[in-house]
Amino acid sequence: MEITKVGVLGCGLMGHGITQICAQGGWEVVVREVSQEKLDGGIGKISKQLARAVEKGKLEQADADGVLARIQPTLDCSDLGECDLVIEAITEDLELKLEMWKEVDAIAKQDAYFATNTSSLSVADQAAVTSRPERFLGLHFFNPAQVMPLLEVVRAEGTGDDAARLGFELGEKLGKTTVAARDNRGFIVNRLLVPYMLDAIRAHEQGVGSIEDIDTGMKAGASHPMGPLTLADFVGLDTLALIADVMHEAYAEERFAAPPTLTRLVEAGHYGRKSGQGFYDYSGERPEPVELDA
Ligand code: 3HC
Repeated sequence: MEITKVGVLGCGLMGHGITQICAQGGWEVVVREVSQEKLDGGIGKISKQLARAVEKGKLEQADADGVLARIQPTLDCSDLGECDLVIEAITEDLELKLEMWKEVDAIAKQDAYFATNTSSLSVADQAAVTSRPERFLGLHFFNPAQVMPLLEVVRAEGTGDDAARLGFELGEKLGKTTVAARDNRGFIVNRLLVPYMLDAIRAHEQGVGSIEDIDTGMKAGASHPMGPLTLADFVGLDTLALIADVMHEAYAEERFAAPPTLTRLVEAGHYGRKSGQGFYDYSGERPEPVELDA
């Protein structure tokens, strides 16, 4: 099936990036949010990134204008009715996702494909509330979606061959490296990356090193682009805690349990970079590590 119009549900951290790369890939994109403020925030980030690319000479102004013109922001779910593929990137909450899929299933074209960008929830559980499990797959992008090369293509129990093929073709069109992942909690990358970040938090709790030293250690000692605590702030501590809970329940292994510091920070509304504070304070010129209670 030829894709001409893509729908994206959610214009937050992941949704705005997915919207941008799909529009850059040449597709018309309808992006839906639940509030004008969130919609404006996501579109504002896309405009800023396009302007920066033009400034750096990496993109012509006319092309940047073209990308923005292909994006239709909306608050109205019924605007997704003409989309050939709908990708969801809303909060990592199964109940919310199921409600949303029921709504979208009722208005989407009969032959439209659905994809979830879930980090950790079951693709099959989401497919099951729609009328099209064979057209439902997981497409897991990484943050920032505009930069990170990987796309995990997740085939659930009922995903058909056409939908799986569509996932790999879409990745290729977007210039991503694709891998096939099974529909287990965390797929490949988060199965390995989430316990690593949680373990770094535990290492800090146990006094192994300061926030900065743990991060510097993994950057300089293992050539990671970011240390694990910076990465946790970057992913979002609220998202990390939600993923940890899902994986802990699924695997019943202590290494997936949210450490007390993570729970405390999330309860205090410190979600990392997006809220201005997490393991670091982002209010100044450069991020400063926060003094955390023992
Ligand atoms: N949007 C668009 N472009 C961005 C960007 C963003 N949010 N952030 C950085 N960039 C671009 C910059 O414009 C720059 O582009 P250029 O090379 O064309 O000039 C390029 O990326 C490099 O950026 P910077 O020079 O500003 O900074 P860095 O070299 O430090 O790179 C980084 C930033 C790419 C974020 C790098 O630090 C990195 O790779 N970090 C690790 C990120 C990571 O591991 N992500 C996965 C998280 S896990 C996940 O997403 C799964 C989920 O389910 C939890």
